Amino acid sequence: MNKTVICPGSFDPVTLGHIDVITRASKMFDRVIVGVLVNTAKKPCFSTQERMELLTESVNGLDNVEVVSFDGLLAEYCKKHGIDAVVRGLRAMSDFEYEFQMAITNKRLNPGLETIFLTADSDSMYLSSSMVREVGSMGGDISNFVPECVHDKIVERISKKKQTA
Ligand code: COA
Repeated sequence: MNKTVICPGSFDPVTLGHIDVITRASKMFDRVIVGVLVNTAKKPCFSTQERMELLTESVNGLDNVEVVSFDGLLAEYCKKHGIDAVVRGLRAMSDFEYEFQMAITNKRLNPGLETIFLTADSDSMYLSSSMVREVGSMGGDISNFVPECVHDKIVERISKKKQTA
């Protein structure tokens, strides 16, 4: 059966942990949509356009993956676009409560929508976008944390942001 899933997130910026989850999902499902969304609890450092460009470049070569962005509820978008499941990466126990809450809420809003968790690989258990931003803003080496093809763009953006802060 043809299965479409979505990997949603704020991707501020994309990390190797996100790419690990997206790549694995692309091998398991027919079509993978990466959704660059708004998390109202976060004030993004990278604009939506920048986050989409970085992701699009990073997933180049994964033929069944596309990158989109939209405002509004994830559950509604999935209903409207016939998306079968949400795929999220689980890093540690600390992620669980928040992820569980989102999965249940999305299911209440769209009963046909499943959430599938992929355990993060051991290299990205500790990774997060805010950690990348913090290390990068202090001049640290982020090359082990972000896709190589977008490394320079991320470093440049973070240092520009720091200068204007
Ligand atoms: N490897 C490395 N890092 C990972 C990771 C992995 N496998 N999975 C998550 N992370 C990190 C991210 O980098 C991010 O780090 P940060 O907090 O430092 O920014 C953090 O874990 C979680 O972020 P992310 O996966 O981007 O998700 P989010 O929690 O910011 O996004 C949305 C949540 C966007 C999916 C959610 O807010 C949403 O669905 N919004 C749309 C509106 C909606 O429907 N709201 C109701 C939701 S029930």
